[in-house]
Amino acid sequence: MALEGWQEVDGALQRTWTFDGMARPAALAAAIAGLCDRMGHHADVTVGWGHLTVRTTTHDAGGTVTDLDRTLAEGVQGLVDAGVDGFRRHVFVCTHERPEGAGRPSCARRGSMDLMVALKRAARERGLDDVRVQKSGCLDHCEAGPSAVIYPEGRWLTLPADVAKVEELAQDLT
Ligand code: FES
Repeated sequence: MALEGWQEVDGALQRTWTFDGMARPAALAAAIAGLCDRMGHHADVTVGWGHLTVRTTTHDAGGTVTDLDRTLAEGVQGLVDAGVDGFRRHVFVCTHERPEGAGRPSCARRGSMDLMVALKRAARERGLDDVRVQKSGCLDHCEAGPSAVIYPEGRWLTLPADVAKVEELAQDLT
C-alpha cells in the first residue's frame, strides 16, 4: 500500500489530517490507540480542533522508520480512509515474502497473493463496492499466516489455503 501523504520527519513517519470539529479526530485517535495496542507498537497521536496528527518511529532501532512503522501507518490510513473516503471496510492481506530459510515464515510463501486476488474478486462479485481489499506489508502475524486484518473492526484472520473458502469469507464483509 502506498503511504501517500505520509512523510519522514526527524526519524519518524508522520501525517496530519484536517476535519470539521473535534469529534471525528478524537474517535479516530481512540481507534488508533486500539490498533497500537494490538500491534504492540505505539505512535504519538495529537488531536486538536479540526486536526489529527500521527507520528510513528521505532525506538528500538534508534529512532528510525522501520517496517513496523510502515505497517502501523497502513493500518492507521485504513482507519482514516474507512471514515473519509467512502469505504466502509478495508481488508489488508499480507503479501510479504521472506527469503528461503529466513527465521520467520512469510505469507507470500503460503499463497497470500492468490488468496488476496480471490477475496478481492469475490467482494466485487457480491457488489461490495464500499469494501476495499488490498495487499499489505508484513502485519507481524507471520506465524499465523497467511494473515489479514479487517478495519475498522481490527479483526484478524488467518486465510484458509483453499481459494473457494476464501471466497466464502467475502460473505462476512457484507
Ligand atoms: S509475513 Fe505476513 S504477517 Fe508477517
